[in-house]
Amino acid sequence: MRRVLTYGTYDLLHYGHIRLLKRAKALGDYLIVAISTDEFNAGKGKKAYHNYETRKEMLEAIRYVDLVIPEETWEQKIDDVKNYHVDVVVMGSDWEGSERFEILRDYCEVVYLDRTEGVSTTKIKEELGLQEPENGVSQIPTPELKDR
Ligand code: CTP
Repeated sequence: MRRVLTYGTYDLLHYGHIRLLKRAKALGDYLIVAISTDEFNAGKGKKAYHNYETRKEMLEAIRYVDLVIPEETWEQKIDDVKNYHVDVVVMGSDWEGSERFEILRDYCEVVYLDRTEGVSTTKIKEELGLQEPENGVSQIPTPELKDR
């Protein structure tokens, strides 16, 4: 059995996530998704809308996902690969070449998959007004004064 492992937050699920998971699963027979815990996110200065248990429950309902485990530290990856007998670690191309994943090449294959254009949790939050845009420019046009 070929075992695949990927990492992420998977907060507001969207089709970019589903496509990534589908292609990750197609690289093997068993897909493990390590999702960041709320404490790990807090350490990065991030806060997910859905808590860890909710994100886990949603991912477990996806047909491509066989197992969800917690991502609690940056350093756990080599142990994860060994403990779960992982053959290939898959990440979106935003992580291409990152040392965090390149060091895993001594233990398993590392594959980067293209991200789906035009969607991200951050973008959804910004467009719904749940988060300040990163570049300070709102994606939503400000209504004319007369329309407010
Ligand atoms: N992903 C993707 N295409 C997108 C968005 C995400 O393939 N449009 C992939 C990422 O590359 C990663 C996985 O989905 O491998 C989980 O990404 P995550 O960071 O949880 O999702 P984002 O929507 O990118 O969240 P954020 O905006 O908070 O970074």
